[in-house]
Amino acid sequence: MNRDQADNRLLTPFTLNAALRANNRIALAPMTRARAGRHRIPNGLMAEYYRQRASAGLMISEATVVSTQGIGWVDSPGIYSDAQTEGWKRVVTSVHRAGGVMLLQLWHCGRASHSTFHLEDGAPVAPSPIAIQGDGIQTPVGHQPYEVPRALETEEVLQVADAYRHAAKRALQAGFDGVEIHGANGYLIDQFLQSRTNRRMDRYGGSIENRYRFLDDIVQAVTSEMPAARVGVRLSPNGVFNDMGSPDFRETFTFAAQQLDRYGLAYLHLVDGLAFGFHRLGEPMTLTEFRRVFHGPLIGNGGYTPATAEAAIREGSADLIAFGRPYISNPDLVERIAQGWPLAPDAPMDVWYMPNPRGYADFPIYR
Ligand SMILES: Cc1cc2nc3c(=O)[nH]c(=O)nc-3n(C[C@H](O)[C@H](O)[C@H](O)COP(=O)(O)O)c2cc1C
Repeated sequence: MNRDQADNRLLTPFTLNAALRANNRIALAPMTRARAGRHRIPNGLMAEYYRQRASAGLMISEATVVSTQGIGWVDSPGIYSDAQTEGWKRVVTSVHRAGGVMLLQLWHCGRASHSTFHLEDGAPVAPSPIAIQGDGIQTPVGHQPYEVPRALETEEVLQVADAYRHAAKRALQAGFDGVEIHGANGYLIDQFLQSRTNRRMDRYGGSIENRYRFLDDIVQAVTSEMPAARVGVRLSPNGVFNDMGSPDFRETFTFAAQQLDRYGLAYLHLVDGLAFGFHRLGEPMTLTEFRRVFHGPLIGNGGYTPATAEAAIREGSADLIAFGRPYISNPDLVERIAQGWPLAPDAPMDVWYMPNPRGYADFPIYR
């Protein structure tokens, strides 16, 4: 290790709101890897994949559906059955043995889904009946066009929030150190937040306050099961994924961050970088901008390199930086950064969601 690396702020510990202690400022970003099989039960291969990455200061699991209605991805895991809870227990046990701290990312896909994922639940649900404009979706019966979702009834919205509460309870039973509420990337919470996808006239639509209400209901539901200091929220104010981006994005996300600030959450996790797509509806929102309204820990993400992550920690715009794609091919990312070893190139996209072990837990550590 040379002097520069010894001085690396990314490698210093950080305590997130008292409850979670990260050994360094490097987080494993949540990444759907689609290895859980058709019953969506975490398995030994997944336990090995996460164990390999346990030197990250904070690990966030792949997005995990809170109910069958929330499913929108082939072979992604769930947290609504006993078998899934047991499967996750095995994953968390192997991570804890390796010294890791891990949160479960809670997911409901909303309109980014297809009825063939949940025949018993019918059409995908959303705040409003607006279909995604895009290439279509990979489903259990192959590639299909997006469907027009069914707008949730007002009373149903509370039931969905309750599914998050049940999922949070199961996450604790599985041994997770906390949960991250997935409010990013055009899934159900983001669909409620943004004017592009929310045209409701009830208490969950219209004003920014009303569009935020669904996320607030979920935060309240989840924090009724565990302390707020074990709960993070992820938002993507600049994102375009899943046909998102609203003209009033800045007001919307500033308001959401202000409101979330009241809870004493573990952190706010922002996909601030533009590497995963940018809607170009104004100047991108920055971590510094969020710092003014959110006073708890901030995690940045999106296209960071070890050097740009170090700069963000050093200048104080972020407390941790989450790495996504670099973690697919560098299970020992922390050690590589600590030792100044080169990073392996990004893995090809065709291994991201492959239903088999190749390109998953088989990336070597540096030697
Ligand atoms: C294979 C893959 C799967 C992903 N799955 C999720 C997910 O489950 N939940 C989520 O919030 N973001 C997900 N993302 C987005 C990443 O968390 C991250 O925001 C994105 O990769 C940009 O960060 P990076 O440049 O460090 O890769 C995924 C990204 C990739 C590449």
